[in-house]
Amino acid sequence: MNNADTDLRISSANRGTKITLQVDGVPCTAYEGETVHAALLAEGIRVLRIAGKTGEPRGIFCGMGICYECRVTINGVPDQLACMTLATDGMQIETR
Ligand code: FES
Repeated sequence: MNNADTDLRISSANRGTKITLQVDGVPCTAYEGETVHAALLAEGIRVLRIAGKTGEPRGIFCGMGICYECRVTINGVPDQLACMTLATDGMQIETR
């Protein structure tokens, strides 16, 4: 789910250059220096994939590269950690 009209970032913070990601084919705003995880959370995207065995939604848990719950496909490469990957302009991200 993409809440493109909702930006959950603190408005007064200084940020890097504004960039655009494609998340499941939908353009999303991010800023250089943000992780994919931070950019997705700021857009209100909480569910990153569905667990294969249980069918339960999965998302950010540890935020530091330990739990592997935040795996997404980035530029066609599956199982990339959203919490450990810096967002770059034009990045193609697939959840689920
Ligand atoms: S949230 Fe745990 S590895 Fe990314």
